Amino acid sequence: MGGATAAGLAQGTAVERGDIRVANRGAAKLEALAGRCPGIFTTQSNVEAAEGADLVILAVKPWVIEGVVEEIMPHIDPARQIVASMVGGLPLGELREMAERHLPEGAATPPLAVIIPNTAIEVRQSMTFIQTDIADEETTGHLLEIFRELGDAMLADGRQLAAGMAMASCGIAYAMRWARAMQQGGVRLGFYPGDALRVALKTMEGAAALLQATGRNPEEEIDRVTTPGGITVKGLQAMEEAGFSTAVLKALLASKR
Ligand SMILES: NC(=O)c1ccc[n+]([C@@H]2O[C@H](COP(=O)([O-])OP(=O)(O)OC[C@H]3O[C@@H](n4cnc5c(N)ncnc54)[C@H](OP(=O)(O)O)[C@@H]3O)[C@@H](O)[C@H]2O)c1
Repeated sequence: MGGATAAGLAQGTAVERGDIRVANRGAAKLEALAGRCPGIFTTQSNVEAAEGADLVILAVKPWVIEGVVEEIMPHIDPARQIVASMVGGLPLGELREMAERHLPEGAATPPLAVIIPNTAIEVRQSMTFIQTDIADEETTGHLLEIFRELGDAMLADGRQLAAGMAMASCGIAYAMRWARAMQQGGVRLGFYPGDALRVALKTMEGAAALLQATGRNPEEEIDRVTTPGGITVKGLQAMEEAGFSTAVLKALLASKR
């Protein structure tokens, strides 16, 4: 997620390429990233990457984050740096407690944020949720601007963050299942798998583009393709008999923390 964020930002304008710094323990991933994104700064030192950065994003596994917070916290200036975590399942309150455990004696807690993208950040099409204790609208606006370059982004409280993770971080897997089911159905109807997937993806993309461009409700678009007594309405009824809408709802409820 960290590499994808850096690579995505390197293609945009919200952050100067030369201002992007990425740290990893091993050199191999850094070399590959620097090869793809010439001009970004890479280092094997977390402290070197974090020192002086306006926004420090920690994109490590949950069992690693406390060690990284401990490592960088003494080098953070709370007056001008934001520390953000991408760790799924680490609420803002726990991030604050973790940061405070590792602050130097008497130091103020820096502004904190939890930033949850989905895997489509790799292609700059992530739906990203940002929970933060920053009240200043200019700063939150800048955070949103950065992550809107990588798809779309919205501010969320703790409840919305959990719901957003179910819908977007887990939901991307549910969308993949829909694509795979369409592909399998397409093969059943006589397409080769590659062509069936191509048709499924363009159909998904078209549906999303129609809703985004027109602002219409999905049901209005459905009405536009359902001729009374026609084949689409028969297909929709078959989907619901198989429990399609209930299955989607159950998946979201099952994956919400
Ligand atoms: N995947 C998702 O859909 C998704 C969505 C939202 C949030 N997240 C969260 O994002 C975080 C990262 O997930 P990911 O899928 O990107 O995992 P990942 O591919 O394993 O990336 C984590 C990176 O952190 C590096 N790392 C490990 N220890 C480090 C240390 N002490 N200092 C600096 N770098 C270190 C790892 O390097 P090595 O390979 O050398 O160990 C690796 O490159 C997770 O907490 C996850 O919950 C994921």
